[in-house]
Amino acid sequence: MTTWEELEEMCLNCRGCRLCETRHNVVIGVGNKNADIMFVGEGPGYHEDMQGEPFVGAAGQLLDKMLAAIGLDRQIVYIANVVKCRPPNNRNPEQDEQDACINYLRWQYLLIRPKIIVCLGKIAASALIEPNFSITRDHGKWYSKKDCDFIATFHPSALLRDESKKRLAWEDLKKIKQKYDETRTTNE
Ligand code: URA
Repeated sequence: MTTWEELEEMCLNCRGCRLCETRHNVVIGVGNKNADIMFVGEGPGYHEDMQGEPFVGAAGQLLDKMLAAIGLDRQIVYIANVVKCRPPNNRNPEQDEQDACINYLRWQYLLIRPKIIVCLGKIAASALIEPNFSITRDHGKWYSKKDCDFIATFHPSALLRDESKKRLAWEDLKKIKQKYDETRTTNE
């Protein structure tokens, strides 16, 4: 079993795919390492690459608002991405890049052991829930795996591009809040 120190060291030195050539920072994750709920995006953008923290740009500001709407914040949850280095020009991470990086996310999961994982957008949902995931069709549905419940909602960048999806995202957030509250009551 890997410790946080070992995992961070491995991520910072990783040369497992081409994204290491162009990165400024490895964006490992942020938040509560004992969180009951984890949010997973696709990969760092420009601001995240510059600052070394996930979701700090425009999409991140919206994510913070989404968290606040259900009584959560960055200190309560844990936030990470499928890939830890920025894909150039914010393109989607390619499959081989995701494959090279996904074990780091698995280790994060094993260290945190959250009860709920929220996938933000299709890339995360396809990597973590089911390869042919359709956000339009499958957002807001629960998928139970071993000790963890998975759900996907729209990526905040998609909500910035198309405000009409915000209503659907809000319905998803309410389900997430309900499950989170149930999880916490069961644990008390
Ligand atoms: N989009 C993501 O998927 N992750 C980030 O960290 C920032 C933007």
